[in-house]
Amino acid sequence: MPLPPLTGIAVCVFDAYGTLFDVQRIAMGARDLLGERAEALGDLWRRKQLEYTWLRSLMGRHADFWHVTGESLDYAMASLGLADPALRARLMDAHLTPPLQADARGALDGLRAAGFKLAILSNGSPTMLTSAVKQADLWSHFDAMLSVEAAGVYKPHPSVYRVATDKFACAPAQVAFVSANSWDAAGADAFGFQSIWVNRRGAPADELPARAQREVASLAELPSMVRS
Ligand code: LAC
Repeated sequence: MPLPPLTGIAVCVFDAYGTLFDVQRIAMGARDLLGERAEALGDLWRRKQLEYTWLRSLMGRHADFWHVTGESLDYAMASLGLADPALRARLMDAHLTPPLQADARGALDGLRAAGFKLAILSNGSPTMLTSAVKQADLWSHFDAMLSVEAAGVYKPHPSVYRVATDKFACAPAQVAFVSANSWDAAGADAFGFQSIWVNRRGAPADELPARAQREVASLAELPSMVRS
């Protein structure tokens, strides 16, 4: 039996990287230089990028996501024996205009047509998010672009999710939070959001003390998954 839609929703809040934007494809865009190593570099870059956000949060040493993205790329390149400043610059530049996930635009259109407010809540710095959303021509879809910079700490710290309830002056349960990162969906659930995990690859859910209330294989399922 499929689970019923989430109810009482006023705002749909989206994670950015991985969820709306395909970060795995960024390094693949430099396959002409990287060849077979593009995928390994992309995977390690992303893994370290997230790891560094958690480590910095534990250390109480916040720096914005652009800075962390650069440091994690430096680590990933060093670990693969790549020392090429032009390649680094090209990959960083590409991170500012990540490809949109194929299922994103239709889902956002559907949710807007149904009357939901839409927002992004991301680790990304305001500059990174503005760049990504504008190049995808999605600027007018969103009521707010929210960054962890307002909290000075990274996801899944509860004060990050609070940025959204403060912005929309709503209760956590009125937010449907959508993320392809299962740990992020878990963090959102722990805060009190109704969270949806976008599991495009059929991965197992993270074993954490909270978990998404719904799981979808594509963003296309969202409009039938939330009700006001
Ligand atoms: C974000 C990270 C989790 O966009 O990808 O917040």
